Amino acid sequence: MEFKSCEDYRANIKSILITKEEIDQKIALAGKEIDKLYDGRPILLVCILKGSFVFMADVCRAVSVPCEIGFMCAKSYFEGTVSSGNVQITMDLQQDISKYHVVILEDIIDTGRTLKEVHRILSERAPLSLHVITLLDKPSRRVVDFTADLALFTIPDKFVIGYGLDCAEYYRSLPYIAEFAE
Ligand code: IMP
Ligand code: MG
Repeated sequence: MEFKSCEDYRANIKSILITKEEIDQKIALAGKEIDKLYDGRPILLVCILKGSFVFMADVCRAVSVPCEIGFMCAKSYFEGTVSSGNVQITMDLQQDISKYHVVILEDIIDTGRTLKEVHRILSERAPLSLHVITLLDKPSRRVVDFTADLALFTIPDKFVIGYGLDCAEYYRSLPYIAEFAE
């Protein structure tokens, strides 16, 4: 993608699907659910980079239970809007998760391949417990069977950008979720 101006950049933002206020409300609720579920027990929030970095920043500030954070980089989209099909862990967690109640934070579940693989890898390490929270879920696109423990928003089969999600590495910094104009 090439941009000659800010207008050019903005032209790819088709429409806002989920506002920042709607995201904030759902994250406050998710924080309360996490607090209730873990009831004072310490947790490790695992951010799946890069798409979940904004989500992680908001979720970690919405919980009251003792909380550590960790980062893991999983890549499945390489260019534009087309999934390559294979999943690569390009950066692993530093923590030994066998001592933790682990909560995986993902930006979006699309085909399900990324999370299925990440979940398999982390459950093999025998954490005290393992939960998956996704900001967005596109169930109509599933190729492999995978369901998150909590999905904040279910969306139709549209390619979305913003709030951490990219198209060719752009648009992650938008404060809302928008449909990409292909
Ligand atoms: P999956 O492995 O097909 O479930 O894809 C998960 C990953 O693909 C997500 O973590 C995103 O990085 C990326 N992805 C899937 N759908 C979208 C989208 O609509 N916008 C931006 N990224 C997406
Ligand atoms: Mg991602």
